[in-house]
Amino acid sequence: MLIDTYGRVATDLRVSLTDRCNLRCTYCMPEEGLQWLAKPDLLTDDEIVRLIGIAVAELGVEEVRFTGGEPLLRPGLVGIVERVAALPARPGMSLTTNGIGLKRTASALKAAGLDRVNVSLDTLRPDVFKTLTRRDRHKDVVDGLYAAREAGLTPVKVNSVLMPGLNEDEAPDLLAWAVRHDYELRFIEQMPLDAQHGWKRDGMITAGDILTSLRTRFELTAEGSDKRGSAPAERWLVDGGPHVVGVIASVTRPFCSACDRTRLTADGQVRTCLFAREETDLRAALRSDASDEEIARIWRLAMWGKKAGAGLDDPSFVQPDRPMSAIGG
Ligand code: GTP
Ligand code: 5AD
Ligand code: SF4
Repeated sequence: MLIDTYGRVATDLRVSLTDRCNLRCTYCMPEEGLQWLAKPDLLTDDEIVRLIGIAVAELGVEEVRFTGGEPLLRPGLVGIVERVAALPARPGMSLTTNGIGLKRTASALKAAGLDRVNVSLDTLRPDVFKTLTRRDRHKDVVDGLYAAREAGLTPVKVNSVLMPGLNEDEAPDLLAWAVRHDYELRFIEQMPLDAQHGWKRDGMITAGDILTSLRTRFELTAEGSDKRGSAPAERWLVDGGPHVVGVIASVTRPFCSACDRTRLTADGQVRTCLFAREETDLRAALRSDASDEEIARIWRLAMWGKKAGAGLDDPSFVQPDRPMSAIGG
C-alpha cells in the first residue's frame, strides 16, 4: 500500500510516457519547445511495464493513466497497454491526450485493453485553437474525439483550460457542443506549471467565473459530494441531467486532502504530487538490478514523504522546476 503520513492511500498511478508534444499550448510551453529528455534517460517499454506490474501487485494501485507530454507520440504505447492489460490483476487504464493521432490509433488502443480517454480541447474555433496551441490542428483533435467514441473508449472526457482574451467567453458554447456530442466536459483552472513561469493568479479564470458564465445559458445543480470521492472534478448536472459538467478547481478549491495519486515521470522519477519539489529515482534502482521488493520499498518510502498539499496559498510557494509536460498532467 502507498500510504502517506496524512493517511491518504494512493491507488491511482499516472505514468508520463514522454515529455514531448506536437502542440505548443501557450499555458504549457514556449513556441520553440523545451529541452527534451534524451532517449537513454527515458524508461524503456519493459521498464514501464515492470514498474506498473510492481505498483499493481505490491502497492495496491488500481488505476493507471498514461500521460505526457503527448502519450500518443510514444511508439510503444499500444504494446505497453497490451502488456499492462495482461497483468494478473489488471488495473483500469486510461489515457490523457491532445487527441492528435487518436483517429488512427483509437481502435488499436481499445483492442489492446485501454478503457477510456480524456482529450484536451480548449476551443471550438479553429483560429483560436491555432493561436492557443500555435498549431493548426483543430480538425485532427475533433476527428480524434469522434474516433474515441466510435472505438468505445468511453466515457470520453474533454478537458478545457480557459485563457483570458482568447477563449474565456467560450464556456457555454463548449458545453452545448459537449452535451450534443455526449462528451463529459471539464473546465480546468490554469495552474502554475508552465515552462515559462508566466502564471499569475489574478490573470486566471476561476471556477467561480466559469460557473457564472455557464449559468447564463444552463441550469446547474451540484451532483452531490458523495460522488466526488478523490476525483479532482466537481460535477454539476446540466439542466437537470443526465449530462454533467465538471470544474477542476486546483487553485481556488484544492482537493489535496482527498488525493489518491502517485506519479511516474518519463525518466523514472516518482513524484508524490504535481507540485512536489522532490523526486525519487526508480530508474536508478531498476538499472542496478534491484528486486521488485526493493523497488516497492523505495516507492513506499517516497509516498510516505508526500506533503499535505500543493501549497499554492503559502507565501513561500515556489513553482516546481519541471513543467507540466515533463511531470505528466
Ligand atoms: P478522471 O479519472 O477521468 O477524472 O481523470 P483526471 O481528471 O484525474 O485526469 P486528467 O488527466 O484528465 O486531468 C485533468 C486535470 O486535472 C489536469 O489539468 C491535471 O493536471 C489535473 N490533475 C490531475 N491530477 C491532479 C492532482 O493530483 N492534483 C491537481 N491539482 N491536479 C490534478
Ligand atoms: N494548468 C491547467 N491545466 C493544464 N493543462 C496543461 N497545462 C496546464 C496548466 N498549466 C491541461 C491540458 C490537459 C490536462 C492534462 O492538463 O490542457 O487537458
Ligand atoms: Fe502539449 Fe498538453 Fe502541453 Fe498542450 S498542454 S503543449 S497538448 S503537453
